[in-house]
Amino acid sequence: MIQANPIVNQTLDHPILEEKGVELAIKRLDLIHPLISGNKFFKLKYNLEEAVNKGYKSILTFGGAYSNHIQASAAATKLFGLNSIGLIRGEETLPLNPTLDFAQSQGMKIEYVNRADYRRKNETEFLDELKKKYPNCFIIPEGGTNSLAIQGTAEILEDGDKDYSDIILSIGTGGTFTGILKSLQPNQKALGISSLKGSFINKEISELLEKNQILTNGEWEINTAYHFGGYAKYNQVLIDFIWEFYESFGIVLDPIYTGKMMFGIWDLIKKDQFLKGSKVLAIHTGGPQGNFGFYERTNIKLPLLSE
Ligand SMILES: Cc1ncc(COP(=O)(O)O)c(C=O)c1O
Repeated sequence: MIQANPIVNQTLDHPILEEKGVELAIKRLDLIHPLISGNKFFKLKYNLEEAVNKGYKSILTFGGAYSNHIQASAAATKLFGLNSIGLIRGEETLPLNPTLDFAQSQGMKIEYVNRADYRRKNETEFLDELKKKYPNCFIIPEGGTNSLAIQGTAEILEDGDKDYSDIILSIGTGGTFTGILKSLQPNQKALGISSLKGSFINKEISELLEKNQILTNGEWEINTAYHFGGYAKYNQVLIDFIWEFYESFGIVLDPIYTGKMMFGIWDLIKKDQFLKGSKVLAIHTGGPQGNFGFYERTNIKLPLLSE
């Protein structure tokens, strides 16, 4: 069990919110732990407990070279006294980028998987090959999404959150959103803002709900209008928004997940998509470490880098 910082819901104060009659708070999961930020804390906790309880000495997981999941898994496994192997999509590039450099500093063994093999990451045959190659490893899927992760993310909403009318969060693989749906109240609506292009995510969420036998109480919807061209794509409007948000509220967003979510929320508020009197809770799912890798890739500075 890793010690968590208390979670705060920070209510934002802004003339637009006043004008539109919308209350907006942000659940600061980014502050839950210095190394295991945001949704990763919840996604990993039951996975790592299970690995320890079942006597595994090592975990094996997957991710892209800048993955928040890889960064957090490396830190969390170290705190649980486990070894870790990170299978990274693509070719080795040296020197290591900030995410992989950190992961390695936590003891994670970094291995590379070519893109064709990486696409097989959820196939039974491929997983069986991995089990032979890396015996006695507890395997956690890409992005950490599995049933144990959903059990964890179902704990993100707390008793004090029952009065919020709308719960909004970013979607990648959908594991965090599915956990939120498990704990949603009948009077609440969950809105997921997808970081990926395409509406395939609706089907994936329905499958995750079915597989985990979750009957959600409230309503849910996924908005696919704020992907900015697709996963990890961005433009200057998004970059400017992340800076403006930081200057207004002192909250660091990233360009892959939380920046797109918050841009979407702000846009929907401006377009009167929330009823007057709505109480909106946005979940900050963490991931600021990505801003270092983003700078390395693009030479664009985002909050965290100027400090
Ligand atoms: C910071 C951040 N927010 C949101 C997400 C999306 O979470 P999920 O993959 O559970 O949909 C991720 C990816 O896991 C992430 O790293």
